[in-house]
Amino acid sequence: MSRSFGGLRAVDDVSFEVAVGERLAVLGPNGAGKSTLFNLVCGDLEADSGRIILAGEDVTVLQLHHRVRRGLARTYQTSSVFDGLSVAEHLILARRGIEAHRLSLRFSRAERQRMREAAEDLAGTVGLTHRIDDIAEVLSHGERRQLEVAMALAAHPVVILLDEPAAGLSASERSLLTELLLGLDGSVALVLVEHDMEVALTVADRVIVLESGRMIAAGTPDEIEADPLVRAVYLGEQHGTRAEPSANSHHGGAP
Ligand SMILES: Nc1ncnc2c1ncn2[C@@H]1O[C@H](COP(=O)(O)OP(=O)(O)OP(=O)(O)O)[C@@H](O)[C@H]1O
Ligand SMILES: [Mg+2]
Repeated sequence: MSRSFGGLRAVDDVSFEVAVGERLAVLGPNGAGKSTLFNLVCGDLEADSGRIILAGEDVTVLQLHHRVRRGLARTYQTSSVFDGLSVAEHLILARRGIEAHRLSLRFSRAERQRMREAAEDLAGTVGLTHRIDDIAEVLSHGERRQLEVAMALAAHPVVILLDEPAAGLSASERSLLTELLLGLDGSVALVLVEHDMEVALTVADRVIVLESGRMIAAGTPDEIEADPLVRAVYLGEQHGTRAEPSANSHHGGAP
């Protein structure tokens, strides 16, 4: 896929596959094009060229909600929870949003019960059972990230794309999140953008590395860690000063 913004080739002829149950990490410095790639795959952004095949079906021209119904789910780099809604309410709405008759607010008692149980299951999956009736405002940063993963899982995805889920987490929150990712249903394909090498390389079966919109490396975590080009553009930066992910500052090329 390719996508430019004016003269800037944000994603430049990047191609990748992810298999059923596979864990793929997408690494790269600030401005490498990782979030743009996610936006193209999910349909938040239109591609200039390229195709997306989901389980054998070409979904390139489908709008985001149609892709979601076919099993694509994602989280965003910036928080997408509502302060005043509870964990259960987020999960019910996330599920409701992809079901038929979703605009109807008439629920039978049985349906309410079913939705509540589904929300409890999801909360359990991400370790938020004890928070189920708390509003998002009182959750820690890490718990909000867990909630966002649960919201993506609510759609019963076949592919889940997570954009920097570990950004801004404390060390203990990061290891919780790593456990959560390792424990995801084995039938879900996971694509993970992550700046935290430890999280990414622990979770991933395979890694691709982007730099200035181009894919500069692909391989197993071991191969990627040993790749001199990757070390120069990515690890070099990790050990230097790195802007916050949300700052979206552009990486000025290899040091
Ligand atoms: N909507 C947009 N309009 C114009 N330029 C954009 C837009 N979205 C992204 N860009 C630019 O495209 C390039 C890639 O941005 P992108 O957000 O995909 O990088 P990233 O790899 O996710 O970086 P980060 O690690 O900081 O999140 C950057 O130079 C960015 O400024
Ligand atoms: Mg990004």
